[in-house]
Amino acid sequence: MACKKVFDKSFRHYKDHQLFDREVNILSALRHPNIVQFLGVCLEKGDRIIVTEYMEGGSLNDKLRQPGFRLDLATVLKITRDIALGMNHLHLEGVFHRDLTSRNILLTGSMDAKVADFGLSKKTMNESSGSFTMGSLAWMAPEVLTDPTKFTKKSDVYSYAVINWELFTNGKNPCPSALTHVALANKVINEAWRPSLPHTCPVQWKSFIESCWNQSSSNRPTFKSIIGTLRGWADNPPQICTDYASGDSSDGDSIEQNSEEETFPSETCSQTLVQSNKSYDDNIS
Ligand SMILES: Nc1ncnc2c1ncn2[C@@H]1O[C@H](COP(=O)(O)OP(=O)(O)O)[C@@H](O)[C@H]1O
Ligand SMILES: [Mg+2]
Repeated sequence: MACKKVFDKSFRHYKDHQLFDREVNILSALRHPNIVQFLGVCLEKGDRIIVTEYMEGGSLNDKLRQPGFRLDLATVLKITRDIALGMNHLHLEGVFHRDLTSRNILLTGSMDAKVADFGLSKKTMNESSGSFTMGSLAWMAPEVLTDPTKFTKKSDVYSYAVINWELFTNGKNPCPSALTHVALANKVINEAWRPSLPHTCPVQWKSFIESCWNQSSSNRPTFKSIIGTLRGWADNPPQICTDYASGDSSDGDSIEQNSEEETFPSETCSQTLVQSNKSYDDNIS
């Protein structure tokens, strides 16, 4: 199992504790093969430790950035379908993710993808305090950049589109290094700017991604509809112009990969500890 500590100082108001506890009840009832299983919460000197199943493959972002790592289209399809299935279930249960990026997708040893890091450490504490945790800027939909309270299920779909982009660019940073965060937000809001998709992305997949990050949230598909599209592709995969497996993921434009992720810092004060059952028992009583 894995343990993540949310420090007591993250809870600014008494109400935050109440909301956190209520959220625990919702998350503990969630069961889906594509959602990292929440196991419980431990209290330690006022801090809360969130316990989940252990995902030995680590994060999708780390995997994509491993030197020499290449995905074939069948695996991209499997991962995107896994994520859509997990997100569809979350939405059916009335939970938004709000920070859907490849860093929050975890992998099993056999490359099954599961959605992680939702709910507890973000949703509760920030709603009550009237502020919000900045998700990862380049994954945020224009309506959320404009007004964070306008977050809907379709805002998660926008972030999902950016994860698709990451899968075709080996985990590049979707924020060009030449742009400041403010400049990026302005371009996304006012110019409907999006990162360029590489020519190794099949044309059909490009259209699919473009629909998922459509400027108008109402024009984006639901995860239910996305699952239908991806299932259709299992029998009739999108055609690719060049050999994706050859590893050429260059997009030929000015987007560069930054060595560091550029995101706004999260307000949430947490620490993730990943450890085996044994060391977990040793460390938490
Ligand atoms: N259940 C888990 N199994 C394995 N690794 C995990 C697990 N949960 C988190 N991690 C690792 O810790 C990182 C950060 O975890 P996350 O829950 O996203 O915390 P935060 O984003 O709040 O720092 C992940 O990207 C992953 O590398
Ligand atoms: Mg995270």
